[in-house]
Amino acid sequence: MADAINLLVLPGDGIGDEAIAQVRRIIDWVGNQRGINFNVEEDLVGGCAIDAHGTSLTDDCMDKALAADAVLLGAVGGPKWDNVPFDIRPEAGLLRLRKEMELFANLRPAMCFDALVDASSLKPELVSGLDIMIVRELTGGVYFGEPRGITELPDGQRQGVNTQVYTTEEIRRVVRVAFDIAKQRDGKVTSCEKANVMESGILWREETNWVHDNEAEYAEIELSHMYADNAAMQLVRMPKQFDVMVTDNLFGDILSDAAAMLTGSLGMLPSASLGAAVDGGRPKAMYEPVHGSAPDIAGQDLANPIASVLSFAMALRYSFDLGEEADMVEKAIENVLAAGYRTGDIMQPGMTQTGTTGMGDAILAELDKLAA
Ligand code: IPM
Ligand code: MG
Repeated sequence: MADAINLLVLPGDGIGDEAIAQVRRIIDWVGNQRGINFNVEEDLVGGCAIDAHGTSLTDDCMDKALAADAVLLGAVGGPKWDNVPFDIRPEAGLLRLRKEMELFANLRPAMCFDALVDASSLKPELVSGLDIMIVRELTGGVYFGEPRGITELPDGQRQGVNTQVYTTEEIRRVVRVAFDIAKQRDGKVTSCEKANVMESGILWREETNWVHDNEAEYAEIELSHMYADNAAMQLVRMPKQFDVMVTDNLFGDILSDAAAMLTGSLGMLPSASLGAAVDGGRPKAMYEPVHGSAPDIAGQDLANPIASVLSFAMALRYSFDLGEEADMVEKAIENVLAAGYRTGDIMQPGMTQTGTTGMGDAILAELDKLAA
C-alpha cells in the first residue's frame, strides 16, 4: 500500500458533526475500495473547542493542521457563543487556520445539478448548466488588515476601524490561481473590485492586468473587470455569463454566498482553500462546505451532507491527485439526486425525503453500484 494520507478532520459546531460523520463513511469506502490508506485524526475547532479548552483553536490543533496532508472542516459558530470575547469567538479559530496555513486562494464552485434546477430562486433557464468558479482571496484584505479595533474618541463617541489592504504579490498570486483554473475551463476570468471608490481596488485591477500582460502563459485568458456591486447584480440577472471570478476576501465572501444560492441550496456547495505548493509538493489545503453551522437544525438528522462530501471530493482531486475517485464520488451524488433523494433543504414535490444519515446511505449504495 502507498504511503498513508494524513487527514485532519475538524467537524466543528452545529450540523458540522452530522455532515462530517457521513464524510467519514465515504472516506472509509474510498480507502477500502481503492486501497488507499487514509489516516484520519479528529480534533475540535470553534465553539466546541471553546467549551473544552477555552479557545476556538488550540496550538496543538494548529500544529496538527500544519502537519496534515489536508484538513477537512465542517462548520463553526452558533448562538451559544454569541457573547464570548471577540478574540476567542468560534470564527477566530477558522481564521487562524486560514492565516497560519497561508491558504490564500479559496475556490468556491457554484454548479447547478440538473436535478436541482427547480430548487433555484431563479428561472430554470437562467441556472440550468450553471458552472461558475469563484476564486476568493482568503488571507488578506479587510479581514486581517491593521489598524483595526474599536476606540473611544475625545468627544465620547466610539470609532470602529478595519483596514482594507493588499500588496502586489498578494494580488498576483491569487490572480495566477484564477488564471490557471480558467485554463482548464472556458478561459474567461472576471476580476471584481471597487476601483471607482478604493485605492486597493485600483491596485487590484492594475496588478491583475500586470499578470495578464506580462506572464506569457496567461496571454490567452480572456480577462475582464467588473465593479463588485455590478457583479452581484449580474450574478442574479444572468449568472451564466461568468466562468471564473477572482476577487478579494470580503467581496468574495459576499459574492460566493449569492452565487451559491443560485444553485438551489447552500447545502450543496463545497470549497477548497489552497496555499502555495511546498517545495514543489502538494500545497497546504483545507476543504470545507460553504454553508455554516445551521444551529437551528443541528442534531436532528436534517442537514444536507452533500456539500461536505463534495468537499472531500475536492480534496481527492486537488490534494491527492485522485481525480478518478473524485469523479466517482461526484457521479454518485448526481445519481442519488437524479433518483429523487432529497434532504429537507432541497425537497421538492414527488421526491423522496431523507435525513442526513439516509443521504449518506444513498450515496454509499450508489458508490457500491458504480464500483460493481
Ligand atoms: C465563509 C464564512 C466565514 C468568512 C466566517 C464564518 C468567518 O462566512 O467562509 O464564507 O466570513 O469567511
Ligand atoms: Mg461567508
